[in-house]
Amino acid sequence: MKLFLDSAKTDEIKRALEMWDIDGVTTNPRHVQDSGKPFRAVIEEIAELVAGTDKPVSVEVDPNLTDWEKIVEQGRELAAISPNFAIKVGAGEPGFKALRELTAQGVRVNLTLVFSVAQAWHAARAGAAFISPFLGWREQHGDYADQLIPETVAMLNNFGYQSEVIAAAVRNARQIADAALAGAHCVTAGVAVYQNSFANPYTNMGEKIFQNAWDATPRS
Ligand code: E4P
Repeated sequence: MKLFLDSAKTDEIKRALEMWDIDGVTTNPRHVQDSGKPFRAVIEEIAELVAGTDKPVSVEVDPNLTDWEKIVEQGRELAAISPNFAIKVGAGEPGFKALRELTAQGVRVNLTLVFSVAQAWHAARAGAAFISPFLGWREQHGDYADQLIPETVAMLNNFGYQSEVIAAAVRNARQIADAALAGAHCVTAGVAVYQNSFANPYTNMGEKIFQNAWDATPRS
């Protein structure tokens, strides 16, 4: 399962590339806003960080666009900035049409804001490179999210669709594990979620035990 960092902060991305060898980056308009930089500047900086690699960076079109032709136009403009860019398009009728057109023109699309298997199926049929079911947002609104990834993966496998599922809006280590067990191709989460997923209280306890033993043992 590929590890994508969900962020538009270049310092975070740089560190995650160095420390964790992340496989790619996903951004969204909120992450770009949080970066404190203008949209164009921030996506160019991120493109620079992954230049020469095959690590994808998902960049979202203006979510106000409702005309599929405008979505395609902007998607093409963004894709021309970097070969690493996958264009994020929101689920919805114009989004699915734009997805089909962009894919036909050789632009990789990440269909975002996916909350059901039916939406994922439309995305796969239309040739999405990536499909992003949002786990955390469903749970935040009181919905179960635990079947979304396994069912989406099963649907793709039933028909041999090539789209990669990105378990998105992931909030904890349990969701990372569940996504991996379900066969998700990728997971995306923020820095804090990954940092927590490295840790375990038993590891801390064990380290203390071994440190004490080491310190109590003569060196020679
Ligand atoms: C995924 O690609 C999205 O950017 C992301 O997971 C959205 O959710 P969040 O910003 O609430 O985590």
